[in-house]
Amino acid sequence: MNVVIVKNYQELSVRAAQLVADQITRKKNIVLGLATGQTPVGMYQGLIKKYKKGEIDFSQVVTFNLDEYYGLSPEHPQSYHYFMWDTFFQHININKEKIYLLNGITDNIDEECQRFEDLIKKRGGIDLQILGIGDNGHLGFNEPAIGLKSKTHLVNLSKATIHANVKYFNDIKEVPRQALTMGIGTIMKAEKIILLASGRKKSPVIVKTIKGPVSTEVPATVLQLHNEVTIILDQDVASKL
Ligand code: PGA
Repeated sequence: MNVVIVKNYQELSVRAAQLVADQITRKKNIVLGLATGQTPVGMYQGLIKKYKKGEIDFSQVVTFNLDEYYGLSPEHPQSYHYFMWDTFFQHININKEKIYLLNGITDNIDEECQRFEDLIKKRGGIDLQILGIGDNGHLGFNEPAIGLKSKTHLVNLSKATIHANVKYFNDIKEVPRQALTMGIGTIMKAEKIILLASGRKKSPVIVKTIKGPVSTEVPATVLQLHNEVTIILDQDVASKL
């Protein structure tokens, strides 16, 4: 694992945007795996800035998002569809046809998950996957468990995740209890991975991710088994390393 420690969230975002931009420059039709949540927002803003300055062209870029809440339509303001359009896609010249997200209101879960896996394969696999990390060590919505699923699947969200996400909803009752997520195998097949983490709250899980034993109870520890992982941390989150 290549661990990069920078001063603060702003620097983390600049660094991450630069790494992604470099990869797009290298391969115009790159397949990106994208993440939602607060952590990558600064990176998306950095990429938008670069696009507006004419430094990146997204017209051939392909994207797959890690996960989506089960039961939320793409128009729902808390859906990850909505988040991605609002935060990133509407601000760049990406081709709509090259954007793939899981359908949270599918009436056939197995078919939807298989469709997603097949599309990733058809597009040649993910070149670069961006990841955040949950306080509990989840990747996408692969929650701590005695076993992890390899492929895209429906998952029951942990209590910790439901509580962590209540801030985005009016009431805890509105937080979806389930989600569709890429599996750990789907994530690990990406050629390169960048994991971003910031803030003191996540420092215990970052210590486990980098130094702890590989365990399904901290899903992010599986990244120790991947050959091309860059972890970008700010000083706060790295303070216990
Ligand atoms: P965050 O979420 O970036 O909002 O902290 C990360 C995650 O739960 O995976």
